Amino acid sequence: DVIDVGQLTGKGYFTYDPGFVSTAACESAITYIDGGKGVLLHRGYPIEQLAEQSDYLETCYLLLNGELPTQQEREDFVNTVKNHTMVHDQVSTFFKGFRRDAHPMAIMCGVVGALSAFYHDSLEISNEHHRRIAAFRLIAKMPTLAAMSYKYSIGMPFMYPDNSMSYSENFLHMMFGNPCEPSNISPVLAKAMDKIFLLHADHEQNASTSTVRLAGSSGANPFACIAAGIAALWGPSHGGANEAVLDMLNEIGDVSRIDEFVARAKDKDDPFRLMGFGHRVYKNFDPRAKVMKQTADEVLKELGVNDPLLAIAKRLEEIALEDEYFIEKKLYPNVDFYSGIILKAMGIPTSMFTVIFAVGRTVGWIAHWNEMISGSYRIGRPRQLYTGYAQRDYPDMASR
Ligand code: ACO
Repeated sequence: DVIDVGQLTGKGYFTYDPGFVSTAACESAITYIDGGKGVLLHRGYPIEQLAEQSDYLETCYLLLNGELPTQQEREDFVNTVKNHTMVHDQVSTFFKGFRRDAHPMAIMCGVVGALSAFYHDSLEISNEHHRRIAAFRLIAKMPTLAAMSYKYSIGMPFMYPDNSMSYSENFLHMMFGNPCEPSNISPVLAKAMDKIFLLHADHEQNASTSTVRLAGSSGANPFACIAAGIAALWGPSHGGANEAVLDMLNEIGDVSRIDEFVARAKDKDDPFRLMGFGHRVYKNFDPRAKVMKQTADEVLKELGVNDPLLAIAKRLEEIALEDEYFIEKKLYPNVDFYSGIILKAMGIPTSMFTVIFAVGRTVGWIAHWNEMISGSYRIGRPRQLYTGYAQRDYPDMASR
């Protein structure tokens, strides 16, 4: 709807577009999506080629800088990330303030925002050097903080980063290692983890990235903005979907009950939705989901996993691809459907699924924030369609 507000504001018209279905809030040169054709490009490169030939840190470089690095630039970038993997020792005392059964996403919202209190030399948003260090710090420290939030929840000591390892290997080392023996991380699992980070690296103006931009448009510091993004990611309609997929598979419990749940998903009076299906932008197979499905097959084969929940997932996928309701509404399995399955097979606890999404998406958030801050921008200030009372007089107590 287009609403004439000229009389109120003297500025003409505004559009009423709940959920921002057809309103662009910014210009961006980072990521292109054609949802109808199932195309996703980062700085012009197809996601399939990046997943096959690049790795997460190189893709981070690309998203942040606009071009792929030369060999020297790549080495310098990786080394700089490695220089920043440790967190200030006082950050670890922060964790102790949380209940030990706190959800790791709750911890991440708090701890990442609190980095603003530790790194005063990367808070000046108009200073390009500060912005650059903030980006390195966030990309490097997110896996450390994510693993700490897990270790804290199971009562195990925190692991120091091991910078002789790759980014993803190091994350698995901090998650599953213990201080008494060297970690022995399977290269297949490290590669799968890297692919999960890469496939989540950016997805233009999704809810969490838009939140980061909106928070950033007021001039807030980068750590505060990323904490806002983490909070927006947490919901089951966004990043929380991979956790919700596993909860749903557990609730279904057995292949024999799938039809009952599919019927519920189609019932207009039942709020139940099949988690891991559908996407606001993709009305075709999400190209990330295709790569993720292939990775899921590789990981399951490598691990020889025989999990009844995975049988339910496979059957659900078949039904959704054949069923008229899903075909008509263009509801394909999305990236979270398969990432949940891989992470479960890798032994990652369900509560960490969305945290892992947040680790991978950090580069997208910071790249968009930086793109906005280094260009011209105005504070984001959506309008509303007021539906309340017209002006009325304050009544005295006796007449209410
Ligand atoms: N199961 C059953 N029906 C569905 C589903 C689903 N998962 N998703 C959408 N529909 C139906 C809706 O009921 C609606 O039907 P109607 O036209 O008869 O009213 C129609 O499809 C369109 O759905 P909307 O909610 O209007 O689509 P929207 O673009 O607003 O929502 C969303 C997209 C949130 C992803 C939705 O498909 C959903 O809730 N999916 C499940 C959660 C999920 O997997 N989220 C992860 C998204 S991917 C990511 O964040 C990386």
